[in-house]
Amino acid sequence: MTVIAPPQRAFTATATVPSDKSCSHRALVLAAMAEGQSRVGITGTGADVAATQGAIHALGVEVEGDRVLSRGIRGWRAPRRPIDCANSGTTMRILAGALAGSRLTVTLEGDESLSHRPMRRLTEALAPLGGRIDTADGTPPVTVVGRPLHGAEVGLPIASAQVRTAVALAALSAQGPTLIDSPAGFRDHTERWLAAMGRGARRSDTAFEVAPGPVPPLELTVPGDPSSAAFLWAAAALSPGSAVTTPGVGLNPGRLGLLTVLERMGAVVEVEEAGAVLGDPWGNVTVTGAGLSGVEVAGSLSTACLDELPLVAVLAASADGETVVRDAAELRVKESDRIAASVRMVRALGGEAAASEDGFVIGGGGVMGGTVEAGGDHRIAMAGAVAAVAARSPVRVEGFEVAAVSWPGFETALESLWS
Ligand code: S3P
Repeated sequence: MTVIAPPQRAFTATATVPSDKSCSHRALVLAAMAEGQSRVGITGTGADVAATQGAIHALGVEVEGDRVLSRGIRGWRAPRRPIDCANSGTTMRILAGALAGSRLTVTLEGDESLSHRPMRRLTEALAPLGGRIDTADGTPPVTVVGRPLHGAEVGLPIASAQVRTAVALAALSAQGPTLIDSPAGFRDHTERWLAAMGRGARRSDTAFEVAPGPVPPLELTVPGDPSSAAFLWAAAALSPGSAVTTPGVGLNPGRLGLLTVLERMGAVVEVEEAGAVLGDPWGNVTVTGAGLSGVEVAGSLSTACLDELPLVAVLAASADGETVVRDAAELRVKESDRIAASVRMVRALGGEAAASEDGFVIGGGGVMGGTVEAGGDHRIAMAGAVAAVAARSPVRVEGFEVAAVSWPGFETALESLWS
């Protein structure tokens, strides 16, 4: 449990955030697939990225600090026991994709939350390549039966970057090219990186063709996580006159939906691109708070801020007027049902909220404070804590420790903005 007291004054701060979780998972798995020594610079991430490090280690890859040493995917060894992906859906899905084209049979399992998350989307996406992934009833544990794959055209019904990445990693081991397409709004880290490595090319805004073959060892420093920075951006946005700068964060367009939402609500957003890693941009973001107004979030914008929608609920509760979020049914199958959890959170703080099938409606007008249940979901824990910035009294978060899934030092980072 933790208690966050509302800050007594406006604040101006610069804060660094942990390495991008999505990119850390991808970099570790690609480094494990490559033959030779990679350097993958990752800092401050939590249990999810540790699960991927543990998983590749279980396959016989050496991981020590930034160094990843592998004999390549053909040199992976099947562990005697199932690999534990803990709370991390990304670990399970993208590793299953990589394993589909290996010679191994490997079982992947997870914690209570992950054990309820949908995996049929993975089985169905890999089937056109000849991939075989067994599940009892469409949920973990999953058993990947590695076998020779062939290239295919894969049209995915949902804009899932995890599933796109699973297909792309499998396609690297296939005979012949694979074309992957899906609805828009997804983060395209994998596509940019594979293109930079000469292992594929964009065919349209949403279609990517993978050119099979080996990936080279990686040499990169993963930039800061915009989905972690988002909590600090929201804190500034909730406090008129306050400003937060997060230097060195990833600027992949599929990750920046929240910045569009913040601007539409009335916050001031400045983005300064400073470089790129494997074709994926990074830079500095400053958000300055102002009075916020309600907003509508729908379509591919919902996908581009899907992980940030619990924060949108918090922002909306303190805005003037109603906020409507739709086209976000995927929220129901995250680490928790984040539609139900976001509505519960806003109500627990004294705000008005109602769930719909594919989103929620938040009344606006301000929140009192109170007790939020994290419900085993790191993003709900951190969003609840951020709500304190605009609350009239302190906010307690029960089960706050789960924040360590993505950001072990979050509470200190948040309170350092104003203390
Ligand atoms: C992720 C993709 C998204 C996101 C998740 C991380 C990734 O999930 O919600 O936190 O790293 O590819 P989906 O692929 O299920 O949309």
